[in-house]
Amino acid sequence: AQDTANATIHADQPGPVVQPEVFGQFMEHLGTGIYGGVWVGEDSSIPNDAGYRTDVLEALRAIKVPMVRWPGGCFADEYHWRDGIGPREDRPVKINTNWGGVNEDNSFGTHEFMGFAQRLGARTYVSANVGSGTPAETSQWVEYMTAAAGTTMLAREREANGHRDAYKVDYLGIGNELWGCGGNMRAEYASDLTNRFAAFAKTGNGPMLKIAAGPSDADYEWTDTMMRISGKYIDGLALHYYTRPRMEKWEDKGPALSFPEAEWASTLANTLNMDEYITRHSAIMDVHDPERRVMLAVDEWGTWYDPAPGSNPGFLQQQNSLRDAMVAALNINIFTKHAERVRMAAIAQMVNVLQAMLLTDGERMVKTPTYHVFDLYVPWQGATSLPVELDTPEYRNGDIAIPAISVSAVRDTAGAVHVALVNVDPNQAHPVSIRLDGVNARSASGRVVTASAMDAHNTFDRPDVVAPQDFSGARVSGGTLTATLPAKSVVVLQLR
Ligand code: AHR
Repeated sequence: AQDTANATIHADQPGPVVQPEVFGQFMEHLGTGIYGGVWVGEDSSIPNDAGYRTDVLEALRAIKVPMVRWPGGCFADEYHWRDGIGPREDRPVKINTNWGGVNEDNSFGTHEFMGFAQRLGARTYVSANVGSGTPAETSQWVEYMTAAAGTTMLAREREANGHRDAYKVDYLGIGNELWGCGGNMRAEYASDLTNRFAAFAKTGNGPMLKIAAGPSDADYEWTDTMMRISGKYIDGLALHYYTRPRMEKWEDKGPALSFPEAEWASTLANTLNMDEYITRHSAIMDVHDPERRVMLAVDEWGTWYDPAPGSNPGFLQQQNSLRDAMVAALNINIFTKHAERVRMAAIAQMVNVLQAMLLTDGERMVKTPTYHVFDLYVPWQGATSLPVELDTPEYRNGDIAIPAISVSAVRDTAGAVHVALVNVDPNQAHPVSIRLDGVNARSASGRVVTASAMDAHNTFDRPDVVAPQDFSGARVSGGTLTATLPAKSVVVLQLR
């Protein structure tokens, strides 16, 4: 078998811009994703800025989180925004029926979300309640958030609740998973409802892109129906796809740690399905929307394993290992390839839930391998994608054979070219040889995320087991970039 991957980066044929929002993050009222993970309240002994954990803010700022989606998820279609405004002590306590049956005291509501996004410098994506709400409720929420100061009664109410100026809602989700937890609807009915909700959600302050609840995985019929009935009323269609090691039964996904190599292989093979899903959903969208005005917003993606041993299964807590780093990098490379249609995405979820960036426990916080991959890829945000042609050896395990190497490349706004190289083979280093068409470079340097074990991960006691290291093994000579990628590694280089 061929051992070396050969590629060409066509920097002379630049592609579309990778929108920063592709690196968006999802935060839901779920487990400790918000309460304890982001929000501890002003009176907490955990260091905070107006109730937001300072360690979490600092870590998320460093990876330039461009957009945050809130409040759900399944939670969104049961959320009534009025429960989350006004004095916190007066807000109603409800049961979070989707996630663990715990009390939801609504202490994190619209103002708290907006304050969080503002502290991160992130765009806002608010998901409206279509499943159990009304178009009037959504339109009033949008008015409450966006009407100019001193105008309508709702704008005055916002002011009375402490925020004079209008908030900016950059994206409005029209429900979530309307085929499932959002109300078990047929696509036709969901489309009609989408049109109705979209018609009455009007901002007081400029563009607010409307994202319809789209398909999951390979549900191409949903996409076709939605685009046919709602295509002209929406700006985006959501796609959800979760990567699981075992796909047979939803209840049996496989553990996050101590997995056999077969589940390393199946996880990475399954995550690569994202490419086919995007390709085929996009092709259907092309039929209804040849100008590609409507984006495909992959606003829930990432790994979903069995719950961490001893945790509340409704909290979706899981450890995050080197395998998750691979999943993150492979998906970002796929999104880069599809940058024209995929103009926004949100990994599920930001803190303490599913494939999280950060894990917290009381006052402790740790950065996951996924966090470090997002850090490596910061230069992708707003950069121009560069087409890549790739001829790669395979990584094989049992019946599974997948490309061992994945490559993506961008040119940033200052003109520098960055190359991401992923070697999913857990056993073998692979040399890469990459022709650089249209790049004038003499050297390459960057960082690598790798470790010796497939399930290497960071804990509160050992937070740096998986962390980026300098990578100095790349050379540029005669217009060709060469490097040897360590087994199971993500390498990101800048050419100079
Ligand atoms: O991210 C967890 C859940 O997964 C979301 O609430 C829902 O949209 C999806 O099924």
